[in-house]
Amino acid sequence: MAVTQPLLELRGVSKHFHGGGIFKQGRKVQANKQITLSLAARECLGLVGESGSGKSTLGRIILGIEKPDCGEVLFQGVNLYGKDKTAIREVRRDLQVVFQDCFSSVNPRRTAGASIAEPLNNFARLNLRDELRVVGELLELVGLKAEDASKYPHQFSGGQLQRVCIARAISLRPKLIVLDEAVSSLDVLVQAQILDLLSDLRDELNMSYIFISHDLAAVAHLADRLAVMCLGEVVERLDNIDDINCLTHPVSKALLAAVLPAQPVGSSS
Ligand SMILES: Nc1ncnc2c1ncn2[C@@H]1O[C@H](COP(=O)(O)OP(=O)(O)O)[C@@H](O)[C@H]1O
Ligand SMILES: [Mg+2]
Repeated sequence: MAVTQPLLELRGVSKHFHGGGIFKQGRKVQANKQITLSLAARECLGLVGESGSGKSTLGRIILGIEKPDCGEVLFQGVNLYGKDKTAIREVRRDLQVVFQDCFSSVNPRRTAGASIAEPLNNFARLNLRDELRVVGELLELVGLKAEDASKYPHQFSGGQLQRVCIARAISLRPKLIVLDEAVSSLDVLVQAQILDLLSDLRDELNMSYIFISHDLAAVAHLADRLAVMCLGEVVERLDNIDDINCLTHPVSKALLAAVLPAQPVGSSS
């Protein structure tokens, strides 16, 4: 029987930074330490941990934009830091990202349509009519209107602009999207809407996600599996998100405690 190759595989990935300081003698920061993990097609892995635990660094390594000190990152079997630049460019279009701060991820002087069309034009030259049609379809797919293509970033709410960023990320029909705190700056109601959208899009477009967040509740909404990070290491893994209450590591427990239901409105203390 043929063994199915994982979509993404990390083998012993480590990365350190120098802490900086004006004399460049700052302490060494081990942002990622011997990380090994894999992701299957159509799977969502939640990557949680406190601020500074190395989640975003790992996200950038997975995206092929932050070279690890050692270890391998294989995406669709291609080593993202290997020598075969043609193969790397080919698979890179299947890898996209959505960041927390959608306002700084788009150019304020470009319309939503122009931002969404950017990845499309990087890989395939479209004529203006096709571009307008594809951008309109993408906007509708993320719950906006085709006419919104002519609006500028400041004319959208935070949630709407995050939808624009999602439309841009899915424009090339990627196989994997790294969502780095993609809903963290949104208020709870909008957060839930965007999480539902991401869940629907994943089914519709057969995508996988690496969902990075410090918010376990948001992760539980979307992820199938979980990896908890602390000081650059994966300290706990959960193969079934339904077992979330069985987490045992102190960091996991602290993250769990942070999402316990808040006091009901109107209850006085
Ligand atoms: N470019 C960089 N230069 C120096 N230190 C960095 C750099 N990027 C990240 N770090 C450090 O690496 C650690 C992990 O950071 P990060 O991956 O952003 O964590 P998280 O996303 O979990 O908050 C932190 O201590 C951070 O200060
Ligand atoms: Mg981060």
